[in-house]
Amino acid sequence: MDKAQILIASNRGPVSFSTADDGSLAHRRGGGGLVSGMISVATEIDSLWVCAALSDADRRAAAEAPGARLDRAHDLGGMRVHMLDIPETTFAGAYTGVANSTLWFVQHMMYDTPNKPSFGSEFRGLWEDYTAYNNAFAEAIVGGAADNARVAVQDYHLALVPRILRARRPDLRIAHFSHTPWAPPEYFRMLPAQVARELLEGMLGADRLGFLSPRWADAFLRCCAEILRADVDLERRTVEHGGRIVEVGVHALGADEDDLRESASDPAVAERGSTLREAVGDTKLIVRVDRTELSKNIVRGLEAYRELLRAHPEWRGRVTHLAFAYPSRGDVPEYREYTESVLRTAKEINEEFSTPEWTPLVLEVNDDYPRSLASFQMADVLLVNPIRDGMNLVAKEGPVLSEHDSVLVLSREAGAADELGEDALLVNPYDTVETAEALHQALSMPEPERRKRRERLAEAAVALPPRRWFQDQLRSLG
Ligand code: G6P
Repeated sequence: MDKAQILIASNRGPVSFSTADDGSLAHRRGGGGLVSGMISVATEIDSLWVCAALSDADRRAAAEAPGARLDRAHDLGGMRVHMLDIPETTFAGAYTGVANSTLWFVQHMMYDTPNKPSFGSEFRGLWEDYTAYNNAFAEAIVGGAADNARVAVQDYHLALVPRILRARRPDLRIAHFSHTPWAPPEYFRMLPAQVARELLEGMLGADRLGFLSPRWADAFLRCCAEILRADVDLERRTVEHGGRIVEVGVHALGADEDDLRESASDPAVAERGSTLREAVGDTKLIVRVDRTELSKNIVRGLEAYRELLRAHPEWRGRVTHLAFAYPSRGDVPEYREYTESVLRTAKEINEEFSTPEWTPLVLEVNDDYPRSLASFQMADVLLVNPIRDGMNLVAKEGPVLSEHDSVLVLSREAGAADELGEDALLVNPYDTVETAEALHQALSMPEPERRKRRERLAEAAVALPPRRWFQDQLRSLG
């Protein structure tokens, strides 16, 4: 097998496998502009994408064809995908225990701290899983990389990989990109000291680190200064550590307009659009689309809608809230509880305001991408109110597809607020009265202003499409 010039490593890979009726393996590309943007670059050069096998079919694919070259029929060109079959308990400890139940909560500052977290000996065991999982990725990269290859490691699942790679393959040029926010040192240091150090030092094994917003990059630099006592230059965004200088860059990922328009031209989108229109009549639409994710702040978003209907009864019967939530991370108990409270709040709102002619809120917790795209086209208002978010691409994709000059009500705590803050209505995500007033202002905004804002949002949203975002990272490695 040829060695690759470019390697990408991420927990979730660009494809997922399934078993067809005849027992053969089929594969499907993951959705979204990020994957398609990265694939479009990766297929132009000999490349290898290392990811975890996430299903039985993935594991079968891993066993039958490790590092298989996927043929052109699947639009993957010369890119190979290496699915790692990581033992189930190791994977559960690393992915569910450490990455999603701990690091995600820390970076989004999402802990209810009087109760959680508590880092006992059980957590030490999970940390061993996380270390083993990172070692498995590093091993695959070491084996698959050509001399001086460039490696783009993605996200909090793989924070230890850069350092392991540097020790074993000093010829490699290594980037690590964080798609999450980064917590300030006062919060980050709640992790056990050794773990906090290993995470920071693990990432500093890279030549270059990338973040989505200057806010997250600067928080990372402050963690290095305070926790590692590393020599940090906040202005140039560099860290001196272990005799090397590591650069920290900000790359504000944008929406992929071509990919979005192509997906939106699927007849299924028009069909979902007419079904929705039939259901909501000629009411105005407030739309939200998220994973069912605690950081997305869905419950407070629903509460803000309730505040709107209470404070501005003139909207009753004239507006519908479409809330589409994709199921996510059902292995984490907090996510299951959160989904329950989303459903409960939605039920209360419909009980309080429904009339025989009008259903104020349509909430669906299932995965339907064509329906999400149709709702972006139809929205009068798009609500994106996370308590914290690395970027939030919904805030960028909505304005691109909007056909009704939708107004964006956006949390100031999303990375996207850096670029969209001037033309969105920014809100404090904890303040449901302020959010309700922003919804009212958005619904009442005169057409010329809506159009002007929407056009500028759409332009800012595509400033750095995924393909260029990825090329910039590779180029910065030399
Ligand atoms: C966030 C992370 C990604 C992750 C995605 C979905 O956006 O930054 O790395 O792929 O959530 O999460 P999941 O746990 O379903 O892979």
